[in-house]
Amino acid sequence: MGRLLVTLLAVIATILGSTIDGYESKVVQFIFGDSLSDVGNNEQLPRSLAKANLPWYGIDFGDGLPNGRFTNGRTVADIIGDAMGLPRPPAFLDPNLDEDTILEKGVNYASGGGGILNETGSYFIQRLCFHKQLELFRGTQDLITYKIGKNESRKFFRNAAYVVALGANDFINNYLMPVYGDSWKYNDQTFVDYLIETLEGQLKLLHRLGARKLMVFGLGPMGCIPLQRVLSTSGDCQEKTNDLALSFNKAASKMVEQLSATLPHANFKFGDAYDVVDDVIKNPYKYGFTNSDSPCCSFGQIRPALTCIPASTLCKDRSKYVFWDEYHPSDKANQMIANELIKKFGFLRADAGVPSPAPAMAPSADD
Ligand SMILES: *[C@@H]1O[C@H](CO)[C@@H](O)[C@H](O)[C@H]1NC(C)=O
Ligand SMILES: *[C@@H]1O[C@H](CO)[C@@H](O)[C@H](O)[C@H]1NC(C)=O
Repeated sequence: MGRLLVTLLAVIATILGSTIDGYESKVVQFIFGDSLSDVGNNEQLPRSLAKANLPWYGIDFGDGLPNGRFTNGRTVADIIGDAMGLPRPPAFLDPNLDEDTILEKGVNYASGGGGILNETGSYFIQRLCFHKQLELFRGTQDLITYKIGKNESRKFFRNAAYVVALGANDFINNYLMPVYGDSWKYNDQTFVDYLIETLEGQLKLLHRLGARKLMVFGLGPMGCIPLQRVLSTSGDCQEKTNDLALSFNKAASKMVEQLSATLPHANFKFGDAYDVVDDVIKNPYKYGFTNSDSPCCSFGQIRPALTCIPASTLCKDRSKYVFWDEYHPSDKANQMIANELIKKFGFLRADAGVPSPAPAMAPSADD
């Protein structure tokens, strides 16, 4: 009898112990971003005008129903996380999110229309800017600390991988739109300086909150998104917009490198896929695409269509289009962008020791 009890207690202790060890060893991701990384936050914002909650968003993902992603399949962060062998974090506003899920999978705070600046995207009425996303992250930390204690929580957040992918909206839905004050207040150089300075403060805050391993995604040639092209009379890419992306990338790369060298134990990396996407847009056939200037999902001849809706028509082969809608790349293009970033970040799969293109090379988007 006594012996059995001791054994039972030992078993219980082992189970409890391994659960606590689980907190220590589990590496999860915390993702901050805009519509390129949103996995359902805006879907829960009742007044947001930027939503991917109608068909045909998500048609090549899981059950094919809209899931909050602003594309037909996976986001770049999905594909990179898969390649790192990390679970896909749920949206912060997912009604099922609880502490156990956070400890298992991390959290994604990305929100369509959100920017580095608070004022960016105000046109969409409701969105989570980076400042707000960081506030929510602090709330998440409090929740986890309450659940597993201060020391374990500290370890959990230090071991996590962080992704920061913002900036496009600060140009497209702020600086480049004359309805925003920032477009009058700044010039190209001072606006990029303002963005980089703000981003630097935000990354330092993340470091103070425990982020050690962090990736910052740069901008693509955003002057070539279908919406920008249709706004130019010739239908060509807007070179001024592309130059802004290049100058942001250059300054952000330098800033992130500097932070990584000076902040204690920081492993911060910057990567962009500008050159590859630029080449894909100029030479789509070389990469297996047939269209790089218009959205796969469009509403007849009416351009810009602004969003993909059930009444829209889809291109015949979604894997042949670089762009899914007026703003966002297709799953296939996201896969190319992710592959390029994986190369730039130079990371290895934690459990293999060799770069693992395998999940990123999967033939179709799935869950
Ligand atoms: C955003 O707003 C908050 C709260 O009003 C403020 O503390 C913060 O400095 C602002 N951040 C930026 C980048 O403007
Ligand atoms: C937390 O860590 C500190 C310092 O490492 C240690 O002194 C303390 O006992 C730990 N607390 C718990 C509850 O484990």
